[in-house]
Amino acid sequence: MNSKLHWENIYKTKEIDGVSWYQETPTDSLDLIKRFSNNKKDKIIDIGCGKGFLVDNLINSNYQNITLVDISANALEEVKTRVKNENVNYIESNVLDFSLNSKFDIWHDRAVFHFITDKKGIEKYISLCNKYIHKDGVLIIGAFAEDGPLKCSGLEIKRYSIKNLETLFSKNFELVEGFKMSHKTPFDTQQKFTFCVFRKTY
Ligand SMILES: C[S@@+](CC[C@H](N)C(=O)[O-])C[C@H]1O[C@@H](n2cnc3c(N)ncnc32)[C@H](O)[C@@H]1O
Repeated sequence: MNSKLHWENIYKTKEIDGVSWYQETPTDSLDLIKRFSNNKKDKIIDIGCGKGFLVDNLINSNYQNITLVDISANALEEVKTRVKNENVNYIESNVLDFSLNSKFDIWHDRAVFHFITDKKGIEKYISLCNKYIHKDGVLIIGAFAEDGPLKCSGLEIKRYSIKNLETLFSKNFELVEGFKMSHKTPFDTQQKFTFCVFRKTY
């Protein structure tokens, strides 16, 4: 099954809180964005937003320039109906295929980059970060940690330590902050994540 079919099927068949990545409030992501973005007009992009509540919280915090990307039309449609906000831009695309005509101040990705397991795909993702993040812009990545789960949504993933992520992005990004956290799933299990915040240096 290709990736798009997989995700459309997940969102068609599962309840919003029936997936391991569900969070009532995405506290870590939200706190990081608020700490690293002081301007409510900053251009923020959330890669692989799913049906998550980050966008609702960003709107409530008065951010005005939010772009959501997901491979699943189903997920984006549900979010669009829920948030009813004409300032949010929606892009239905595989992140590795998209092209945009603007750059971003904040690029956020929780539990999406880790699905890209091949060298070519990883290099492409890094090149997109180079292309679409402003100089001094901020890249926030949350991926399964080195001692985290081996799969996510039944798919193979790549696990990352803070050091692994720092090395991967080192050419054009400097690590500002890295930490590990444990996400409690709706099934009462724990998933270890690595979060890194990078600043684009050129
Ligand atoms: C594990 S979920 C995480 C959702 C959300 N970021 C969160 O933390 O709640 C992964 C999401 O990424 C999307 N996705 C997976 N691969 C993608 C890709 N290559 N391009 C764009 N979106 C993708 C899926 O449809 C899904 O919504």
